[in-house]
Amino acid sequence: VLSDEVYSQMLYDGEFASVASHDGLLERTVLLDGLSKTYAMTGWRCGFAAVPEPLVDPLVRFFVNSTSCVPPFVQLAGVAALTGPQEEPLAMIEEFRARRQLIVAGLNELPGVSCRMPRGAFYAFPNVSQLPIAPDELADRLLEEAGVAVLAGSSFGRFGHDNLRLSYANSREKLTQALERMRGFLEAL
Ligand SMILES: Cc1ncc(COP(=O)(O)O)c(C=O)c1O
Repeated sequence: VLSDEVYSQMLYDGEFASVASHDGLLERTVLLDGLSKTYAMTGWRCGFAAVPEPLVDPLVRFFVNSTSCVPPFVQLAGVAALTGPQEEPLAMIEEFRARRQLIVAGLNELPGVSCRMPRGAFYAFPNVSQLPIAPDELADRLLEEAGVAVLAGSSFGRFGHDNLRLSYANSREKLTQALERMRGFLEAL
């Protein structure tokens, strides 16, 4: 099992349970995580994996011969993030909780848009199937005509064909502005 658990700390309700915590799965799971989300260190390009023992040597060989290593100062920054005070990431989750509330409520007030409350990460995935234009075109036109960058849900597989994906990793002020622009665009359709 390859399990990308990069959002494991970004939960709004309940407790995170790794797939590796289930019986018999620890020794069969490659668990991926990184600093990009919890510590907002996307640009540092540092991730890590917990792997079953037999994979350690081949993976070390692979990384030594492909990237050599993560630059030492980035490794030190990673250690500082993981072992230092955790108040900042915890406060950030609370800020994301407020942004989530704002964006989901705002999307649900738009004509033809309905959005469920996400339980983790920082993305809203509204259903826009009631609108007269398809999500792919809608995403392009929102960017070109309203200056709002969203992705078409089809980028995330066949279950996303009726959706858009919006990141709410942005200020409440900007999110409010984006919602206003979307309203203006949709009302003019
Ligand atoms: C599920 C998931 N995994 C991994 C990543 C990327 O992480 P990184 O910046 O460490 O490449 C993202 C970023 O969008 C993500 O959504």
